[in-house]
Amino acid sequence: MRFISSQFGGASFSCLTLFVLLLLHFCHIVSIVGQKSDGALTVVENPDGGERVGGAEEEVTVDDDDDDDEGDLEVVQPTEQWQTLKPSHAVPAGSRVRLNLQTGEREVRLGDEQLKYWTQEHREKEETQSSFSPDELKRAMKKIKEDLNPASKDTQRQDSVESKYRPLEELKRDMAQLDLLVETDVQIMRRLLDQFNSSNSTTEQKMSILLELEYLVHQVDNAQSLCSMGGLQFILEGLNSSDFRLQESSAFVLGSALASNPVVQVKAVESGALQTLLTTLATAQPLRVKKKVLFAVASLLRHFPYAQRHFLSHGGLQVLSDLFREDGGGILRKRIVTMLYDMISEKELISQVGLDSVLDAAHQERVRQYSKVSLQGELFEKGWCSLVPQLLESTEHDYREKALRALLAMAPVCLDQYRSNGSLLDSLLSLRDQYQEMVQSEITLGEENGYFAEIVQLIDALHVKMK
Ligand SMILES: *[C@@H]1O[C@H](CO)[C@@H](O)[C@H](O)[C@H]1NC(C)=O
Ligand SMILES: *[C@@H]1O[C@H](CO)[C@@H](O)[C@H](O)[C@H]1NC(C)=O
Ligand SMILES: *[C@@H]1O[C@H](CO)[C@@H](O)[C@H](O)[C@H]1NC(C)=O
Ligand SMILES: *[C@@H]1O[C@H](CO)[C@@H](O)[C@H](O)[C@H]1NC(C)=O
Repeated sequence: MRFISSQFGGASFSCLTLFVLLLLHFCHIVSIVGQKSDGALTVVENPDGGERVGGAEEEVTVDDDDDDDEGDLEVVQPTEQWQTLKPSHAVPAGSRVRLNLQTGEREVRLGDEQLKYWTQEHREKEETQSSFSPDELKRAMKKIKEDLNPASKDTQRQDSVESKYRPLEELKRDMAQLDLLVETDVQIMRRLLDQFNSSNSTTEQKMSILLELEYLVHQVDNAQSLCSMGGLQFILEGLNSSDFRLQESSAFVLGSALASNPVVQVKAVESGALQTLLTTLATAQPLRVKKKVLFAVASLLRHFPYAQRHFLSHGGLQVLSDLFREDGGGILRKRIVTMLYDMISEKELISQVGLDSVLDAAHQERVRQYSKVSLQGELFEKGWCSLVPQLLESTEHDYREKALRALLAMAPVCLDQYRSNGSLLDSLLSLRDQYQEMVQSEITLGEENGYFAEIVQLIDALHVKMK
């Protein structure tokens, strides 16, 4: 500060004060950005090792590890590329982890939401940090002052001496105005919620409010603030609305707020979001709404065994299989199968880590919670061993790939059914021929180990199991 004030010693008192004010704002913004990156990793105050939800025995250790984990585990920062994980490696929450079926190794990359978050945050940092030279700031301040007080322009020109010594009261007013001009995210959300709550806001207004909120809740701490302000209640009411456009937008906000955000996941379950989501999923009509609600369900369940268990006990798989059967186009089918696959491999990964002799209390708690999620057995009972093969009939490579991965993941419980299904074997063999040909053309184009080769490997792996 001292350096700055001497540098600007010649400037008018007004400029100096405004400058300091702006600088404070800037520091504030920077500290918010800083908090945000912290917030992405340290998520929950975890005083006695577990966040409690519901009754005494229903403990939920939020997915993120406490700091003490980092002593034993090397935390790998995922990037946009897949990288192989060693047994001693840990990954931040929300990362996408997969089992490489060929090598048996775990691989990690940034999750989709993290990718979004990461790029967004970088963009913001650049925006705040660049263009911050004292000269530019001085010019900007002058401009703001003139904008605030257009009438003073002429006076300034006519009598520059007088304008240098403007009355203190006037300055104070300007500063107050400046302060009001800069709205924090929390203030914006407060304003949006008040507007949303006002009885005369139209559906269109509500939808645009929800879209603004959706943008804001990608920031981990914004999503948490929205919950503390009671925003969750509005969103759940929106899901319940008879207007499908409101349902769609509400589900979108909820899904984004839940993504990789354990605190919001816990609060949502406590507010009864799971039941509302399942009811909406079962009754919603337009495909657009179903897609968004499914997105919210997947975000709620991800890395959250407590919610998964309740999803199963509230008939979630039944709702999904109805949806799967109705869905002709296949986009919902693909998303459902992907979601089931993610849930299976998430649980697998936890038990794998258990073999790496990382046996701290938090991990054991997590293993215990996942052990209560009897997903595989439920999948078998609810007929998914014969449903998932239907996705292979799709013409989209991507859909087939997802189906193959899920079939492999479900093999431990479904193998007998696969073996007795002649039409599954037939379709595997014909797909294999088809992709083998495409691999050949990939190779002639100079591309080894391309996407189609990966699909052939998946087919082979499944075929071997079925023999
Ligand atoms: C919504 O508005 C009602 C009055 O219309 C008020 O009682 C309530 O507190 C408001 N809710 C929120 C969360 O602002
Ligand atoms: C709602 O009505 C109040 C007065 O009844 C009015 O002041 C306010 O501007 C209206 N809000 C909207 C969004 O139309
Ligand atoms: C949604 O509607 C159902 C029945 O219409 C009601 O029981 C439930 O409380 C509502 N939930 C919310 C969050 O408004
Ligand atoms: C057998 O596999 C086909 C796909 O090839 C699938 O459509 C069908 O539902 C499966 N039937 C059973 C009983 O598993």
